[in-house]
Amino acid sequence: MISVQNVRKVYPTNPDFPVLRGVSLGIDAGEFVSIVGTSGSGKSTLLNVIGGLDNHYEGTVTVDSLELKSLSDQDLSHFRNRKIGFVFQAFNLLNHLNCSENVRLPSYFMSNLSEKELNKRTTDCLDAVGLQKKAHQKPLTLSGGERQRVAIARALFNEPKILLCDEPTGSLDSKTGDKILDLFESLNRQSGITLIIVTHDVRVSERAGRLIRIEDGRIASDTNPLQALVEEGG
Ligand SMILES: Nc1ncnc2c1ncn2[C@@H]1O[C@H](COP(=O)(O)OP(=O)(O)OP(=O)(O)O)[C@@H](O)[C@H]1O
Ligand SMILES: [Mg+2]
Repeated sequence: MISVQNVRKVYPTNPDFPVLRGVSLGIDAGEFVSIVGTSGSGKSTLLNVIGGLDNHYEGTVTVDSLELKSLSDQDLSHFRNRKIGFVFQAFNLLNHLNCSENVRLPSYFMSNLSEKELNKRTTDCLDAVGLQKKAHQKPLTLSGGERQRVAIARALFNEPKILLCDEPTGSLDSKTGDKILDLFESLNRQSGITLIIVTHDVRVSERAGRLIRIEDGRIASDTNPLQALVEEGG
C-alpha cells in the first residue's frame, strides 16, 4: 500500500545537511507500524513525505498506487483529504470552534455530503472516541486526552485508509495515553486502518506489529518487536 524508494530530503535552509539519506520501505495495508529514533533523526519529515504534506525530495513515494510527486497540487490535497488522517502532537485544534466543528473541519475543504450526512458523520466520529457528550464544548475546556481524542475524531472524519500520528501520546499522562492506544488498536484491528505512529513512547512500540528505527536519516533497523524480544531472550 505504501512504497518509499530511496528518498533523500534536504531542507533548503540547511542544504549541506540531508535529513533523509536514502530511505526505502514498504508498508502493507492494515499494518501497525511504529517509528522510533532520536530527536532530529528525520521521523516527522518521513511522515510528512508519506502523507503528501511535503513534496520536495528525491526518490519516489507511492501510496495506494499513486505516485505522489507526479500529482498536481490539487490532486495531492485530494489524496490527503481522501486517504490520510493526520494526528499531530500539538493537536492543532481551533480553539474558537467547538468539538463538532473541529471534527468536521475536513468537510469545509472538500465534501459532497449533505448537511444531514455531515452531522451524522460528525456524531459517529465523536462517538468513536467517546466524546459525544462534549460535542458542543470548546477545546480549552477539555483535558489533554480529550483534546487528543477530538484530533483523532477529526483525522477519522474522511474515513482514511491510513492514519499518520506524530507523538500522539507525547503530552498525555500514562493512563490517558493507554486509552488513546486502545482506540488506535481497535481502529487497526476492527476497521483495518493502516497505522503509522512516530513515538518516543515504548508502550506504543510494544503494541505495534513492526518497529522501524531511524538514525541520522536512515533506517537503522526494521523488526517485529515480539520476535526481537524472543531473540533477545534466547
Ligand atoms: N522546516 C524545516 N526547515 C529546516 N530544517 C528542518 C525543518 N524541519 C525539520 N528540520 C530539520 O530536519 C531534521 C529532522 O527533523 P524532524 O522533525 O524530521 O526530526 P524528528 O525525528 O521528528 O525529531 P523529534 O523527535 O524531535 O520530533 C532536524 O535536524 C531538523 O532541525
Ligand atoms: Mg518529530
